[in-house]
Amino acid sequence: MRKPMMVANWKMNKTRDEALAFIYAINENLPSCDVVDTVICAPAILLRDLVKRQGDNLRIGAQNMYYEEFGAFTGEISPVMLQTTGVEYVIVGHSERRSLFGESDELVNKKVLSAINHGLKPILCVGETLDQRELGITSSVIRKQLEIALNGVSVKDVSNVIIAYEPVWAIGTGKTAASSDAEEECKNIRQAIKELYNAVTADEMRILYGGSMKPANAKELVSMPNIDGGLVGGASLDPNSFLELVKCCE
Ligand code: PGA
Repeated sequence: MRKPMMVANWKMNKTRDEALAFIYAINENLPSCDVVDTVICAPAILLRDLVKRQGDNLRIGAQNMYYEEFGAFTGEISPVMLQTTGVEYVIVGHSERRSLFGESDELVNKKVLSAINHGLKPILCVGETLDQRELGITSSVIRKQLEIALNGVSVKDVSNVIIAYEPVWAIGTGKTAASSDAEEECKNIRQAIKELYNAVTADEMRILYGGSMKPANAKELVSMPNIDGGLVGGASLDPNSFLELVKCCE
């Protein structure tokens, strides 16, 4: 049985004071981590402060990292630095990184491998643009993203990867994928994992949906057989809204 997971992606939001107020507001009210994994992926500058104050039922993740350990990469943050903050997860290949900052599938692959090598669990984002959906090539686009991003990841290590299916046209737009469409793509992703690895691995792989998820639609989405939780931007910024989302996974 796959444990559900609700991940906040705060993106470039929240000052330190706002972030601490948020976690004080939710810490006591989270369901047990035996039942659902609750994660906040915060801006890098806040990570250490949040890890220090995470309660028993909360884990913290980063939103990005570079794949090298150190060197002349101005402005980047390395997996070694993330390790020192105590985070457990890192989002890799978010569509905003791909489209606004030019990240290729090959770069995403290097980041996935590096995260794993440093004991960080990658939350690997894949998803199609509106043009790709209208062309009817969604599944092949996602398949290619997965194949390249997971190139060289062993069957043992892939069990620490979480996949987030995020249709690009649904992110931050208020347009959610129909739960049946989201289910269909998550099912395809599981099938791809089965073909790239094996049936047991595919069965155990956690696959999240992301893209305008909110308390009003989360329950239906996470009740789909192949959707194991959410990666949520806008609706994760308010503590009550995020708590409701987490509770939809219970
Ligand atoms: P959204 O963002 O929930 O604001 O659509 C999701 C994401 O980008 O991970």
